[in-house]
Amino acid sequence: MPRVLIIGTGIAGLFAALRLANAGQTVTVLTKQRPKDSSTNWAQGGIAAILDKTNVSEIDGHVADTLRAGDGMCDKSVVQMVVEEAGGRIQDLLEIGVKFEKTPHGEFQLAKEGGHSSRRILHAKDATGREIERALNDAAQHHPNISMKPNTLAIDLIQREHKSPEKGICGVWALDQDSGNVETIAGDAVLLATGGAGQLWDKTTNPSVATGDGVAMAYRTGACIENMAYVQFHPTALRMEGERPFLITEALRGEGAVLLDHEGYAEWCKDKKQDPAGLSFTLSASKEGSMATRDIVARAIDQRLAETGKSHVWLVTQHLESERLKLRFPMIAERLETYGLTLGKDPLPVGPAAHYMVGGLKVDIHGRALLASNNQTIPGLFAIGEVACTGMHGANRLASNSLLEAVVFAHQTSEYLIENHPQSNPQELPGWRSDGLDTLSEHGPIAHDRTTLNQTMRFEVGISRKYSRLQRAIRRLSLLEQETNAIWKASLPTREIVELRNMILVGRLVAEDANERTENKGLHYNKDIISIDE
Ligand code: FAD
Ligand code: SIN
Repeated sequence: MPRVLIIGTGIAGLFAALRLANAGQTVTVLTKQRPKDSSTNWAQGGIAAILDKTNVSEIDGHVADTLRAGDGMCDKSVVQMVVEEAGGRIQDLLEIGVKFEKTPHGEFQLAKEGGHSSRRILHAKDATGREIERALNDAAQHHPNISMKPNTLAIDLIQREHKSPEKGICGVWALDQDSGNVETIAGDAVLLATGGAGQLWDKTTNPSVATGDGVAMAYRTGACIENMAYVQFHPTALRMEGERPFLITEALRGEGAVLLDHEGYAEWCKDKKQDPAGLSFTLSASKEGSMATRDIVARAIDQRLAETGKSHVWLVTQHLESERLKLRFPMIAERLETYGLTLGKDPLPVGPAAHYMVGGLKVDIHGRALLASNNQTIPGLFAIGEVACTGMHGANRLASNSLLEAVVFAHQTSEYLIENHPQSNPQELPGWRSDGLDTLSEHGPIAHDRTTLNQTMRFEVGISRKYSRLQRAIRRLSLLEQETNAIWKASLPTREIVELRNMILVGRLVAEDANERTENKGLHYNKDIISIDE
């Protein structure tokens, strides 16, 4: 039986691990922190899914909304497949033990988020990811065919033949953070399920593990990375001085919360009897107001903040019933209470934060990674979840389509590996080169370089871009890359240096992709392109 190596314990990695292990394969799962530390665990709004694939009008509606959000850049056949597979994968999640919210009549309670034309989002109140992660982790920890290695940080992929990516991938070198040793871990197939890269920006909704490691490792072996310019900023992260941005789910707007700028809020306060959703000063650049797709709403807020010099806009819920909101969004209500804010009463200061990496490792319909040089598959290398670019999201992901894409592609890839056993790799793998390397004694420069990276991404590679600023970012990131690589080559690996090296590389890939684009689509918005059009 093949040995499969999976890196990452979010929805993609764990779902694939369970499917492969149930089919009798031996699976090793590495994760750099605790198994639950993932974006999946923090997902709030839910998972978009039509349960009955014979319901053509519902399927068509979900497909159409996804294509519209993707601004003409989605792969339609992938969207159709993912939307049609949703019901089957939700059934799998239910069998694994995930519990979604139901109505008193026993039907699933469906939520709505920006860009969706109907209610189709299954959820577990406002902590959907926590529930999914709980159930998947419970099942994986107890599975006899799965061996979990927490606190194990994948550093680089091992090629079957040095400098011959077309020959394929057969394992990874990984830092055991408990012992400090670098291990060589073999896999006949390696599945990257390493999630996104929100940590490149200082304002992000993502957990600390989201440092783009999968993209960086794959890029270094010659894999094709695409669409990195499409970085999704979530419009409504709570902005409290000195605190990390805490996501306020879009599902709250689905229940009637509305975004207002300061002027709009002041006007509305004069006559609160009016529903703020109907007011002309509601903050948005589209007729759908606060329920437009994320690219539009985040850009409208970003522009408004630049014009007014304010640090936030307001998400208002005062016109809604407070007790009902607290029951529907208990995690958010509890977090707000710690700041002295009450859901359904106080206006919430919110603004955009880096949220989702639409681009990533280009994969085919089976999750197989492709070579940058000729688009041929790389034997033994697969990518699933946020790290992968499947064509599903185009230039902008529709809300709650990420968990869906991750679970469907985890299934696709597992089925492929069950049908097509990967070539086994009998020879001994090379060990990590550690001769002559010193223990990193000075951590100061690394912390400083990370701050420089975060500031560069924030100011030069944010929501609104300009060619001159993108080019400035590329120059700065290239210099940072040279300096970090010099430290990297001379020192024994630590988590800080591994992640910094990866983040700088991924930041450069984002800036370069953005700089090469001559058209504004979805999440990529360059002010210079608008002025050329005008
Ligand atoms: P993740 O869940 O991020 O897991 C990645 C795993 O890889 C982690 O275990 C990490 O530790 C591990 N890892 C990374 N690098 C390494 C390495 N070098 N070595 C070892 N391990 C490594 N999407 C929706 O569809 N609906 C939502 O409601 C929703 N809400 C969200 C709310 C928040 C706050 C955030 C941050 C995201 C949300 N998203 C939502 C997006 C969605 O949660 C993610 O895109 C999705 O969970 C990604 O799953 P994944 O399995 O690909 O990666
Ligand atoms: C949210 O709950 O607003 C996040 C949903 C998503 O990222 O799809």
